[in-house]
Amino acid sequence: MINPRKRLLITGVSGLLGNNLARYFKDKHEILGLYNFHPVVIRGITSEKCSILGLDSLKKIIHEFEPSIIIHCASLANVDECELNKDLTKKVNVLATKNLVNSIVDRDIKLIYISTDSVYDGIKGAFSENDNINPLNYYGLSKYEGELEVAKKENSLVFRTNIFGWNIQDKRSIGEWILGELGAGRRINCFRDAYFSSIYTFEFARVIDIAIQRDLSGVYNCGASDSCSKYEFAHKIADYFGLDKASIKPISIDDFNFKAKRGKKLTLNVNRLQKELDYRLSTIEQSVEAFYKDYRCGLPEKIKQDTLAVYEKPVYISYGRQWIDENDIQSVTGILRSPWITQGPRVEKFENALSEYCKVKYTVAVNSGTSALHLACLASGINEGDEVITSPITFVASANCAAYCGARPVFGDIDLKTYNITPREIEKKINRQTGAVIPVHFAGQSCNMEPIYEIVKNKEKEFNRKIFIIEDACHALGSLYKNKPVGSCKFSDMAVTSFHPVKHITTGEGGAVLTNDEALYKKLKRLRSHGITSTPEEFIGVLTPNSKLQTLNSLPWYYEQIDLGYNYRITDIQCALGLSQFKRLDEFRKRRREIVNFYNMEFKGIELIQTPFESEDCDSNFHLYVLLLDFDRIGIERGQFMTGLKQQGIQTQVHYIPVYTHPFYRQKFRTNWGDCPNAENYYSKCLSIPLYPAMSDGNVEKVVNEILNMATSVEVSDKVKRAK
Ligand SMILES: Cc1ncc(COP(=O)(O)O)c(C=O)c1O
Repeated sequence: MINPRKRLLITGVSGLLGNNLARYFKDKHEILGLYNFHPVVIRGITSEKCSILGLDSLKKIIHEFEPSIIIHCASLANVDECELNKDLTKKVNVLATKNLVNSIVDRDIKLIYISTDSVYDGIKGAFSENDNINPLNYYGLSKYEGELEVAKKENSLVFRTNIFGWNIQDKRSIGEWILGELGAGRRINCFRDAYFSSIYTFEFARVIDIAIQRDLSGVYNCGASDSCSKYEFAHKIADYFGLDKASIKPISIDDFNFKAKRGKKLTLNVNRLQKELDYRLSTIEQSVEAFYKDYRCGLPEKIKQDTLAVYEKPVYISYGRQWIDENDIQSVTGILRSPWITQGPRVEKFENALSEYCKVKYTVAVNSGTSALHLACLASGINEGDEVITSPITFVASANCAAYCGARPVFGDIDLKTYNITPREIEKKINRQTGAVIPVHFAGQSCNMEPIYEIVKNKEKEFNRKIFIIEDACHALGSLYKNKPVGSCKFSDMAVTSFHPVKHITTGEGGAVLTNDEALYKKLKRLRSHGITSTPEEFIGVLTPNSKLQTLNSLPWYYEQIDLGYNYRITDIQCALGLSQFKRLDEFRKRRREIVNFYNMEFKGIELIQTPFESEDCDSNFHLYVLLLDFDRIGIERGQFMTGLKQQGIQTQVHYIPVYTHPFYRQKFRTNWGDCPNAENYYSKCLSIPLYPAMSDGNVEKVVNEILNMATSVEVSDKVKRAK
């Protein structure tokens, strides 16, 4: 075999180089990536938390993984922060390196250490490896001290370098920074008198690959085969990406008050490396071209997509939460620089995207799911004396919207399998007062809409009144019912959704009403904004006998308030976020499903734990994963169970307290415990466990283990066992 698979241990796998190396090598070698402060899960490689400062844990990992090569990328590299935080820098850049060397000193493991061009002083430029070491700042010094530790390990290899590439974290390499700033229309200042020989990470990976094959050892500069100033570098990036070069302002490094001193000519002579490897390193121009080509192929996106979790705090796993990435942030900041931050074009774009996705004619986006429900009730003409039927197992907003209009919320009991209101209960509760029915697609599973629709249509005939069907789809964006998207309104007048951060996509706060009915659409749009219209065809007021003509021709400011509406408008800032999140809706959905499949498999057959049922008619997007736990038989109260999990860093939640049991409902509508027995039975056992797309596999496993631990380690544990 020319190229046998090796075991590669990469430290600093959450950093730019560590991550890009893991990506480059993952198909060639078996990789274990270590991170410390920034947990990360990368598709195709194994990653593990390990502080290299802990000798025992490091030795254990090395003993178990048995790497033949270690690429040591982990370091603190922010030059100014290193200057301010010398103790920590010493620990991470020197002592951790010393530890690593000590843990492998008598083993046959190749150590590759990533050092920096900052070990040189940057005065004469074109430094070769034999030139004086004279770092101007603590970062450079600490990395050099790291080199001295590495030199104690036989056959080790050191690269002095300066890199740019595609990050997985919020940090940006110089290339990403220039692209991000110019791309967003901002001006940037770049040093015309600071020179470097930066190398693109994936070219560096290729060099390391060849060095491994040749078993290279010693100290080498590794950079571009030429150099340029940072100002020239910004021009090259702008050229390739078609950005505005006039926005790049040349400045002098002397005008900048850095905490740490910097060299001006940190350029590298790479002849030694080229000769040893018989390899021609790229020029900076070629590196920028490669950076650009990878961008065009979608590499930055792929890198982020393959990174399932970064910065996920291992200490706290919430039951649900948003996943915001750099693209989302850029979309929002882009809008902040545009003329429209509210009532602008993004709102309509977001509405159109929703309409298209849900295969519905019209969407009216608003500032919350609650506002959307309120508007849907108002547009349905719900009023005092009306009744509105909904589910008790929902968030209070599904019923409050009726109360806002002076109507009486009426609760129909749920099905014990789907936890949704049943058609039969709706039929039982419907009467002459019923103005609307609000089925709630709990946790993402659609209600059985077809029979609900038929019942309502029959009752409309019987009572000779319109009864609106408003789907509360706040949990169900992306779900299907009978192969049609929830929100398509095939069996309803309107559907309502929410973009709260725990939902499938977020706009911070936000919601929408979807409908196929043009009249409802127009009404919803007016009600969203004070009941005002500026559309002449909708004017009803009479200013003069010729008002319509006047309005059109000579009263350009004119508008009319024709309903009592609200300010429920959503902003362009929110919609920009929504549009950006929308692109990942299907990916989010897929990841939720992966986690659900894992949970289903792990909890299957465990007595006293019931996993969610999935109806054949529905393809759920799984907004929530609700377990039913027989707390009585397990022998622990739910509160204690939740606290126990919380102590392990896991948040769980109860969805929901039956709405009619809240004091407001009991007092105002004379509802009471006992009204819906199935809902109360469900409520006594339900527990929503963490489920969100950014959850790492490690955290999913942790949730399973801790729940099984809790459910099986309590007193009557003999009753809780796997059936298999
Ligand atoms: C079923 C249901 N309906 C309505 C709402 C209200 O949505 P929002 O929080 O966007 O106002 C929620 C929110 O959690 C919900 O879960």
